[in-house]
Amino acid sequence: MSNTMRVGIIGGGLMGREAASAFGRWFALEPFPVRVELVAVCDLQPKLLEWFRGVPGVKLLTQDHRELLASPDVDVVYVAVPHNLHEKLYLDVLAAGKDLLAEKPFGIDLAASRSIAAASEKSGRFVRCSSEFPFLPGVQRVIQAVKSGKLGKLLEVRSCFWHASDLDPSKPVNWKRQVRTCGEIGVMGDLGMHVVHVPFRLGMNPVRVYSQLQKVYTERPDGKGGMAPCDTWDNAMLHTEFVSEGREVPMRFEMKRLAPGATNTWSVEVLGTDGGARFSTAEPKSYWYFERGKEQVWSRVDLGHQMVFPTITGGIFEAGFPDCFLQMWAAYAAERAGVLGDRFGCVSPTEAVRSHELFAAALTSHQTKTAVAL
Ligand SMILES: NC(=O)c1ccc[n+]([C@@H]2O[C@H](COP(=O)([O-])OP(=O)(O)OC[C@H]3O[C@@H](n4cnc5c(N)ncnc54)[C@H](O)[C@@H]3O)[C@@H](O)[C@H]2O)c1
Repeated sequence: MSNTMRVGIIGGGLMGREAASAFGRWFALEPFPVRVELVAVCDLQPKLLEWFRGVPGVKLLTQDHRELLASPDVDVVYVAVPHNLHEKLYLDVLAAGKDLLAEKPFGIDLAASRSIAAASEKSGRFVRCSSEFPFLPGVQRVIQAVKSGKLGKLLEVRSCFWHASDLDPSKPVNWKRQVRTCGEIGVMGDLGMHVVHVPFRLGMNPVRVYSQLQKVYTERPDGKGGMAPCDTWDNAMLHTEFVSEGREVPMRFEMKRLAPGATNTWSVEVLGTDGGARFSTAEPKSYWYFERGKEQVWSRVDLGHQMVFPTITGGIFEAGFPDCFLQMWAAYAAERAGVLGDRFGCVSPTEAVRSHELFAAALTSHQTKTAVAL
């Protein structure tokens, strides 16, 4: 395999441009065995293609994803489009013989995720799904704390992703607020992969779920002077259990678009009998840990730029969203090249399907007001 990964992007909106920005900073990684080139971009909107015209190295700009997939210059395709298009476009990428970094939720529903995972397996291509927060230094510290076994017997896990801009009823509708384009799972499809990635990778697989789903605003301005239906779930709390050392341990997943005061706030907390670990992007420089002692003390570490893949950035500088997104891409490139080692990796197709199994069970739980076994 060449040590240059040539990428094509399908969907140059919010995340497509974020990916271009990560590739533009690739040289900050050091030393890193794989180079990256963004060579082709597809979007339906001419104004977005115009934006990509200013990105060095891009040779092909097109409104037809089949043209991008026909290009022999593209090795890997990043697809960042609305959820109703995932299955079709991901399958097209695989049929074209390209590797894929898929966006979450990896298909609009469980059936779509299973069909994508089956096609990935059959194709033999390298396929992973996006989730970047685990690559922040504070999250890595939580992961290390759990793996060290120093937390003792696990008591409880909480993993949350909260947004608040939907509290404003005058915020216009968009594709993420409608079942047709976002999916029946609503906010779980939007924010869910982010909250399950770390627990799943640590072997915390739910055996049962009781869900509380909320729809609060049922319509929003359509941006043309009228109102449009807003029929997805706004908030989801999933009360689950996983088995650790033969005992069931409570684990709560919170995915919220209506979380007063939270701007893209991602957090995780793991508590055990001997210790605890927690991190929130609301305090990006803080890793909190607890060690059982005579007194009850939570200690705070002032974090710097200790990344999974080292960069030229000074070790005392703080990390943010663009940094973890770059790290996630580095993890994809490293794993694809067979050099990830024991470092944290992107979501696998199996984990993505497992997330859909959880969300589908959460829909049933909400309907029946019962806990559903997984
Ligand atoms: N990893 C993250 O943190 C994160 C954050 C936001 C969104 N996402 C995911 O990324 C994906 C895209 O979300 P977004 O916020 O970037 O959406 P967006 O609406 O900003 O961008 C989607 C783009 O896809 C384009 N598009 C639609 N149909 C197309 C087609 N047939 N061919 C080519 N382009 C097409 C649209 O023109 C638009 O520019 C979704 O799966 C979403 O869940 C991930």
